[in-house]
Amino acid sequence: TIRATVIGVGHYLPDRIVENAEFEKTLDTSDEWIRSRSGIERRHFAAEGQTTSDLGTRAAQAALADAGIAADDIDAIVLATSTADLTFPSAATMIQTNLGMTRGFAFDVQAVCAGFAYALANANALIVSGQANRVLVIGAETFSRLMDWTDRATCVLFGDGAGALVLEAQTGTGTNEDRGILATDLNSDGRYKDILYVDGGVSTHSTGHLRMQGKEVFRHAVEKLASTANASMAKIGMTADEIDWIVPHQANIRIINGTAKKLGLPLDKVVVTVQDHGNTSAASIPLALSVGKERGQIKPGDMVVTEAIGGGLAWGSVILRW
Ligand code: ACO
Repeated sequence: TIRATVIGVGHYLPDRIVENAEFEKTLDTSDEWIRSRSGIERRHFAAEGQTTSDLGTRAAQAALADAGIAADDIDAIVLATSTADLTFPSAATMIQTNLGMTRGFAFDVQAVCAGFAYALANANALIVSGQANRVLVIGAETFSRLMDWTDRATCVLFGDGAGALVLEAQTGTGTNEDRGILATDLNSDGRYKDILYVDGGVSTHSTGHLRMQGKEVFRHAVEKLASTANASMAKIGMTADEIDWIVPHQANIRIINGTAKKLGLPLDKVVVTVQDHGNTSAASIPLALSVGKERGQIKPGDMVVTEAIGGGLAWGSVILRW
């Protein structure tokens, strides 16, 4: 059995840190409101001129260094993003060039906040089907570019950043003891477009801003996240008590805690970074994996379940043994 196994992880956050209190100057809001409703305390924002591919390149370089391999050893780059530098070419090909990589192939995956689960599932499929041996899987976003800074219900929730994993084809035994990706589960339902979307795009001659019905998104999130995690676990016959770490998409601490509770997991098995990063969309899971490893939480051999939901709605989960 071929397994797509993590051999490196890294992340990058832009220098500028914005504390909740900074929003009190321009909006009718408070640090207390933001903290208590979302768990967010601060977020990073990209500098003017700093793009998604810049952030993704830095995270990729960190992941390659962690793996101890060169860019030339990579066969493919899969970048999860909804905030590519340009409409085309893909930001993934810009990262490819920034890394000095002239072979292989690179492409973007667009599934908003669920993007990293989608990217991991795609990278896994490339590896198990023999189309690539080593894949760089990146989540990178500059959601600050999509904010309506007059809408207090959205602009305080998001941040910029990037994280990356290096996956390598390794031979396993075919059991759940193997390191690497063990199960994936992807879902979408376009009927829910209106509860979370950007009201602009190429085909409508505009860039647009993020629009969200927060309560509606919240209502779907806990239920769908628990259900996709359970679906992934069912595919490999494992139960929640075998999970070492839940690494959820970091949107809101109440969604994160609600999902853990629904899965019957104690909060000390959840990697939480939302307080420091805000919601970085497709970047939040690889950021949390990288920070979780740095903190000494995630260790080799740990059973890790990632789950995410976002615009679409699109949602999914990936189980991997670290
Ligand atoms: N500061 C102060 N007051 C605010 C702010 C703010 N920043 N934002 C909204 N309010 C006000 C509202 O205007 C409303 O006032 P009103 O009652 O006078 O109309 C009041 O606070 C309550 O607003 P609600 O929307 O009911 O607040 P709620 O408790 O639902 O929290 C939140 C809002 C945090 C957006 C919540 O609904 C949520 O987290 N939803 C999930 C959405 C999410 O996380 N999306 C991320 C993208 S999708 C994803 O990644 C999963």
